[in-house]
Amino acid sequence: MIKDAFLSDPRKSGLDAEHPVSDEAVLQTSPHTPATVLLGVTGCVAAYKSAEVVRGLQKAGIRVKVVMTAHAQEFVGAATFRALTREPVAVGLFDAPGAPLHHISLAQEADLFLIAPCTANVMAKLAAGIADDILTTTALATEAPLLIAPAMNVRMYEAPATRENRERLIGRGVRFIDAEVGYLACGDVGKGRLADVDAIVDAALEALGHRRDLKGLRVLVTAGPTVEAIDPVRCITNHSSGKMGYALAEAALARGAQVDLVSGPVALCAPAGASLHQAQSAQDMLEAARRCFPGVDIALFAAAVCDMRPKEAASKKLKKGNDDERLSLLEFVANPDILATLAAEKSPGQMVVGFAAETDEVATNAQKKLAAKGADLIVANRVGEGLVFGEDCNTALLVDAEGASALPTMRKRALADVILDKAVGMLEDRKAR
Ligand code: CTP
Repeated sequence: MIKDAFLSDPRKSGLDAEHPVSDEAVLQTSPHTPATVLLGVTGCVAAYKSAEVVRGLQKAGIRVKVVMTAHAQEFVGAATFRALTREPVAVGLFDAPGAPLHHISLAQEADLFLIAPCTANVMAKLAAGIADDILTTTALATEAPLLIAPAMNVRMYEAPATRENRERLIGRGVRFIDAEVGYLACGDVGKGRLADVDAIVDAALEALGHRRDLKGLRVLVTAGPTVEAIDPVRCITNHSSGKMGYALAEAALARGAQVDLVSGPVALCAPAGASLHQAQSAQDMLEAARRCFPGVDIALFAAAVCDMRPKEAASKKLKKGNDDERLSLLEFVANPDILATLAAEKSPGQMVVGFAAETDEVATNAQKKLAAKGADLIVANRVGEGLVFGEDCNTALLVDAEGASALPTMRKRALADVILDKAVGMLEDRKAR
């Protein structure tokens, strides 16, 4: 059996040697909890850009909570941030009756405290250790790293007091995302404009230790089952939960990719930032995936596509008694193979990853699918007897032209990163050749 031959001899399992699975990946089997950024918003015209910062962080899978000064609320309402974050917004020291020490609980929740925009006044308070509102009190109470994106008039920015405050804060380990030179709200031109939103988001993710190695890449993911109609009531489908595909989309977004997610019906929320294209049948899914495919760098076909569909979907419900024969003798026709169809259209710069759900001879079947479908990589796993479908963990085998590599059991979100690592590695190897 190919499986045994590949797995028992590490020399034949070229992937093991070249792309060992890091201990980190193996250890990532604990539940994936998103990092929390506490975003401080202060009173500055640029406060409206904080809403875009929230979105940018959410796209990378970050949970954002907002704390505002009273002056910030003159520029943007707390309701905006409440709606965007779906979290309560902290606006006053005594505004959360259920949490008398709100600043302390906020301070403890934060993995990073980002203040964007930060006024000269708030910088001065932070430098002096003044804690006279919810934002500055939380900043003093938190042990999370502090990241500041200042925005103010050019002369305020360059005033000796502001410079000294900045130096003092840097001396305490606070990081800054410098303001930009440009046209300022007051009409002056000079340094003081809030840094670009992308630069703020990148700096925050870097401070959290997130990789951004897929920035500039486009990723397509198909996910979930397809549903093939028999009549307006009945259908043929399968048990796919979509969890693997959604984990791939989430991981790619977190690493900075632009993601198109083509999904069959699932009970999952699409990750913020993904362009979601909903599909029902295999034919719908092929059309949606085909529209996205040109220009995609990595295409991951994780959907469980029904291989067959009823030859004709009845326009009216088939009735017991009247339509028994038609119901018991349903005729089927083959669905298009989305992976094989698009792999045949790929350009050399595109990496195509397929999946193989198998009940038997997992490695052998994965090898066959790799060749038959023209994929660059197949992620194979055993299904049936309660395995994989709907589960949060997966034990996969990566199969490419070089051989097969068995991965340890890990959560689908961690597996998604390992699959992306492998695909990016193969893409880079190809470009280097
Ligand atoms: N796939 C596809 N379109 C299909 C069938 C499968 O794009 N009509 C893709 C799946 O998304 C997956 C891979 O092909 O990436 C293998 O799917 P799988 O269901 O394991 O295999 P099948 O090709 O359907 O073959 P079989 O059911 O005989 O194992």
